[in-house]
Amino acid sequence: MPRIRITQEFIPEALDEFEGTDIHVDLRDSPVPLGHDELVTDLDGYDAAICLLTDRVDAPLLDANPSLRAVANVAVGFDNIDVRAATERGIVVLNTPDVLTDATADLAFTLILSVARRVPEGDAFLRSGRYRYWRLKQEQLGFDVYGQTLGVFGLGKIGRAVVERARGGFGMQVLYHDRFRLDREQERNLGVEFVEFDDLLARSDFLTIHAPLTEDTHHAIDADAFDKMPDHAVLVNTGRGPIVDEVALVEALQAGRIAGAGLDVFEFEPDVIEGLTNLRERVVLLPHLGSATARTRLRMARLAASGVRDVLQGRRPTNVVNPDVFDRQLGKG
Ligand code: DGY
Repeated sequence: MPRIRITQEFIPEALDEFEGTDIHVDLRDSPVPLGHDELVTDLDGYDAAICLLTDRVDAPLLDANPSLRAVANVAVGFDNIDVRAATERGIVVLNTPDVLTDATADLAFTLILSVARRVPEGDAFLRSGRYRYWRLKQEQLGFDVYGQTLGVFGLGKIGRAVVERARGGFGMQVLYHDRFRLDREQERNLGVEFVEFDDLLARSDFLTIHAPLTEDTHHAIDADAFDKMPDHAVLVNTGRGPIVDEVALVEALQAGRIAGAGLDVFEFEPDVIEGLTNLRERVVLLPHLGSATARTRLRMARLAASGVRDVLQGRRPTNVVNPDVFDRQLGKG
């Protein structure tokens, strides 16, 4: 009987993906991630693991658990998993793309609007009883969003969903930079202009990050980048924290080199450096809520569960990060 370990609390309804199978599921029903050493031990003897982005799945962990055939990350990003090491060891890696695209794009737009229109500041102002008169020079005067220029760093599915919102709802001009340039017709259809990274920095009123975290994108937004951005620019990050040099971000905000930031992810997550939490004007900080709608989280849990189930039953799921390994496991490679 194949055995699956779910490393942290899960969405209970998604467990019905295993009904009617001979798969035994061991749920570690805790909201607290295990330390790395404990996780290594915890996975002993399992055929597959369903883990979260707070679990580091690296080569030593995989070597210590040679029975693993599949690891599913309940997230679209998988920088917490050493995919190369998994591939070398014949372990299938799965993620949860598509189902969270709209929720994450909605949240990126929420941050754009919240920073620009100073929504948390207005809320705090009103609750503190300081709203006495409607004034032309209101305390929370913000920036326009409609008709401004949006820069998208990383034009994957989430980046494109943000573009749809920006073009369709907010009449924005959209620039993008990505390792892969779309063909001209795709660019025309989507209404985006490809620019070099430095131009993206220099021309964007709002810059939103949707690139994956890799060695190349680590600290892509650093002190030099902030120097190239206009001083009215707003940075939004719903991707991965370490793409932004957070110390440099605090310095840029304090010095007025950029005007604001909306962050859902952090370089040292779940810790947030004090410099950031001390900044309240035009800075909005959220606890990694990108995919956090009840429907989306259920769909993510189901996709991870059904993917692992299918791999263990010899069927190819759609959400495999390293499909060659799956073919090898079936003896086709
Ligand atoms: C992801 O899926 O990578 C997000 O960061 C969590 O939904």
